[in-house]
Amino acid sequence: MAKQGDYQPTAMTAQERFPYYTSFPFSWYRACDTTDLAPGTVRPIRLLARDLVIWRDEQGRAHVMDAYCPHLGANLALGGRVEGCNLVCPYHWWEYDGDGRNVRIPYSDRTNAKARVRSYPTVDVNGFVMFWYHPDPQQGPLWNIPALTEYVTDEWTEPIVAEWNVRCPWQELAENGPDFVHLKTVHGAATVPEVESITYDGWFNHIRARVDFATPRGPQAGRIDTDSWGPGFGVARFSGIIDTVFFATTTPIDWEWTQSMKVYRVKKLGRDADALETTRRVGEALVRDLQKQMAEDNVIFDNKIYIANPALADGDGPILPFRKWAKQFYV
Ligand code: FES
Ligand SMILES: [Fe+2]
Repeated sequence: MAKQGDYQPTAMTAQERFPYYTSFPFSWYRACDTTDLAPGTVRPIRLLARDLVIWRDEQGRAHVMDAYCPHLGANLALGGRVEGCNLVCPYHWWEYDGDGRNVRIPYSDRTNAKARVRSYPTVDVNGFVMFWYHPDPQQGPLWNIPALTEYVTDEWTEPIVAEWNVRCPWQELAENGPDFVHLKTVHGAATVPEVESITYDGWFNHIRARVDFATPRGPQAGRIDTDSWGPGFGVARFSGIIDTVFFATTTPIDWEWTQSMKVYRVKKLGRDADALETTRRVGEALVRDLQKQMAEDNVIFDNKIYIANPALADGDGPILPFRKWAKQFYV
């Protein structure tokens, strides 16, 4: 099987390959992991083709804001520091609160109401610092990301994390979800899952499917159930052999590149050493297989284009309903 990077990439730009990609879809997006941002930390990050600052105030609240200080343009993430619940600019020490309002100028009696940094609604959920992006800064979150039990209980193993940068927009990755044919043709699955239902429900979508997993003892019946909450966050649950779950986050880096992250957890088979060892072994094999599948998909994603009027056949997944659903996230 080809791996990501095996081929010389096309000279076409993303805009030529994906003409629909004229705005970043609105969504909750992962900025970083919760554990990577201790109180008092300030970090630069570039996502959605913009420079951002991520910081956590001393009361523990995470913030994501545009990086540039409206005073004279210093990058707040590079040398900025946290004072209590404010972020201090490294240049002239103006202070901003979590909403991006100027709350102190050390050499002036008055603050400056015009000095306003764009601040994105930010939450810690499922181990991620997630922020809400909409092209219209006035448009607040249109949905929430639920806290999932696989993260909050200790019945699951510690996570195994995998991260890729893919040279295509979110929509191309997501279109792979209802495309069950490729499981056989790209990933070598013995059988194609039997889809019970695919539901496009407002900002969410749900796929319920039965599948035969290949095991050393022959095929074993199981399920794959996936749920998405907009473009930036989804979860897939595998059951049958051993319960496995992954949280998937997808974040545009810029117009060419998208970050795709998967955090895998396996349900512990028991508490004793034997059970934990079996969980680890079976889980690692399953995760290795899922990672192999990602690498196989990425070669296609990196080099494909968007066909606006695809030539479809009976047996293809619901590509057009998927695209209709995806369209609503663009302004
Ligand atoms: S540029 Fe930030 S305080 Fe002057
Ligand atoms: Fe795939």
